[in-house]
Amino acid sequence: MTKRFDIKYKPLFNQAEPGIWEDFAEIEMAARADHGLVFDESGVANIFFHYHKNWEQTNNIAFGAFVGGKMVGFTKGFMIEDQDYELSSLFVLPEMQRQGIGRKLITCFENSVALVGSYVQGQCYEWAIPFYQKQGYTVVRGTGPVPKMSKKLPKLGKGVYPMFARWQVKDIKLKICSVPVDKKLLKDSLHQPLFVDVNEKGQIDVVGFKNKDDVDTIWVSDKIPESLKKCREMLVRWQLGAVKSR
Ligand SMILES: CC(C)(COP(=O)(O)OP(=O)(O)OC[C@H]1O[C@@H](n2cnc3c(N)ncnc32)[C@H](O)[C@@H]1OP(=O)(O)O)[C@@H](O)C(=O)NCCC(=O)NCCS
Repeated sequence: MTKRFDIKYKPLFNQAEPGIWEDFAEIEMAARADHGLVFDESGVANIFFHYHKNWEQTNNIAFGAFVGGKMVGFTKGFMIEDQDYELSSLFVLPEMQRQGIGRKLITCFENSVALVGSYVQGQCYEWAIPFYQKQGYTVVRGTGPVPKMSKKLPKLGKGVYPMFARWQVKDIKLKICSVPVDKKLLKDSLHQPLFVDVNEKGQIDVVGFKNKDDVDTIWVSDKIPESLKKCREMLVRWQLGAVKSR
């Protein structure tokens, strides 16, 4: 069994980076094949089509689990409406399952949307129902072919969290600074690393991100040196390759 601290969880700010979709496809196909769902050539093409289509929306979110630099699991999703998020994919390589990776990935996803979102929903396979129930999801078998699951998100606790969607940042910035948001900066920073530091009251202390010119941009609600340091550390750690499991 892989030691827990050897598994690293990384926000995938830019899913279009070389190799990411190939890793997604390898993991998704292996995890489905484990349940007898084998893809033919057109099925594989379809998977890539969907990765690409989802990516074209700006409101997507993804995390990967890595062991020694190799992706062994991932989760992916997007915003449906202002407060509702869809968890569209969650797959762990069969030989890496039952080690807490799925649970940690789903937590990463939830934490990255909990600041502005209320609900996470999605469809799930019959065999995954007990897993989702353990993560606090309610599963409903409707008239459709697959069960639906949903969860009301708990309030986000103290910590530094990666975030993805730029229009959320606009709202967040308005919450913490009175200075109007620089639209060009937001546009240029699409799909670039972004971390938000949340205090024990659930308020945002700092938003830190990199833009295309590789310049750290930090918005601070007040003079909070410790918080600022943490956000910078996250940016540096992300650059070094991974955000470690906490
Ligand atoms: C579902 C899936 C993502 C779970 O990932 P995982 O890394 O094996 O799950 P974890 O080890 O984090 O499990 C968390 C908890 O759920 C339990 N669990 C996981 N899969 C379970 C299952 N199939 N049945 C019952 N319990 C399960 C674990 O025992 C663990 O319980 P614990 O909290 O008491 O220790 C993984 O099995 C998978 O990729 N399956 C195939 C694809 C799939 O179904 N994806 C979901 C899309 S609907």
